[in-house]
Amino acid sequence: MAVLSIPTPIMAAILMMTVVLGLARADDTNRVYSPCSDSKVEISDGFTFGITFASRDSFFNGNKSQLSPCDSRLGLRNSNAQIAVFRPKVDEISLLTINTSSFFPENYGGYMVAFAGRKYAARSPLAFVANNTYTVSSFTLVLEFKKGRLQNLFWKRDGCAKCQSGSSFVCLNKQDCAIKTSSCKNHASGGSVDCSLGIQLAFSGTDKHLSALNSWYEVENLRQYSLYGLYSNLKDSLTSQYDKIF
Ligand SMILES: *[C@@H]1O[C@H](CO)[C@@H](O)[C@H](O)[C@H]1NC(C)=O
Ligand SMILES: *[C@@H]1O[C@H](CO)[C@@H](O)[C@H](O)[C@H]1NC(C)=O
Ligand SMILES: *[C@@H]1O[C@H](CO)[C@@H](O)[C@H](O)[C@H]1NC(C)=O
Repeated sequence: MAVLSIPTPIMAAILMMTVVLGLARADDTNRVYSPCSDSKVEISDGFTFGITFASRDSFFNGNKSQLSPCDSRLGLRNSNAQIAVFRPKVDEISLLTINTSSFFPENYGGYMVAFAGRKYAARSPLAFVANNTYTVSSFTLVLEFKKGRLQNLFWKRDGCAKCQSGSSFVCLNKQDCAIKTSSCKNHASGGSVDCSLGIQLAFSGTDKHLSALNSWYEVENLRQYSLYGLYSNLKDSLTSQYDKIF
C-alpha cells in the first residue's frame, strides 16, 4: 500500500490505511503512480486514484460543470482542500480508511470527490461527508473500467436501508446514514464514537485483457465479506448499520 503525494502542493495530513482481502498477488505492472495521469490496468495491478475534500462549489467551474480535481481551472491548490491518494489492487475488495482524529472533513468544506486520470479524466459525483451537524462515515465506491481504462467512479448507496431508526443514525436525503457530528470523538462536545471514514471499494467492468472485474459482484452478493467487521475501531460508527451481518 503506497501512500503518494501528487504534484500539487495540496498536502494531505490524513492518515490512511488499507485492509485488503485476498491472498494471491501477481506483480503490479502499472507504472503510473499519479492520480492525475492515465493508465491501463490488468487484474492485480495497483491503481492510483485520489479523493479530494473541499466545499461543494470548489468542484465546479463557475456555475457550470463539475470538473476533475486535477483540472487546474478549479484552482484547488489555492483553496481550502485536502487530497488523499490511494493505490488499491485492481479487483480486490479493499476498505480505505481515513482517520478523523486529526482531520475534520467539515473544516474543509465537507464534500468529497474521487478522481483519476487526465486525458481520460474520471471523477465521481460529490458526496456529502460532514458538517457541524451530521457526519456520514461509511461509503461504497465503485470503480468502473473498460478494457483497463477507468470510465467512471460512483458512490453506491443503499437508500438508508440499513439506517436503523431509534439508533443514533439519521437518514439524510433518503440516501445516507449519518451520525450526529457532536457524537464524534475529538469533536468539541466530546462524543465517544470514532467517526473515521470507511470507504469500501469495488471494481467493475473489464481489464485491458478484457477479463471481467468481479469484486463488485462480491460486494453486492456476498455482503458477509464486508470488511467493516475486520476493523474493530470503526465498528461503532460503521457497522452498527450492518448489524445483521456480524
Ligand atoms: C452562471 O449562470 C448564469 C445563468 O445561467 C449566467 O448568466 C452566468 O454567467 C453564469 N456565471 C458563471 C460564472 O458561469
Ligand atoms: C448539514 O448537512 C445536512 C445534510 O446535507 C443539511 O440538511 C443541514 O442543513 C446542514 N447543516 C448545516 C448547519 O449546514
Ligand atoms: C485514529 O487515530 C487515533 C490516534 O492515533 C487512534 O486512537 C484511533 O484508534 C484511530 N482510529 C482508527 C479507526 O484507526
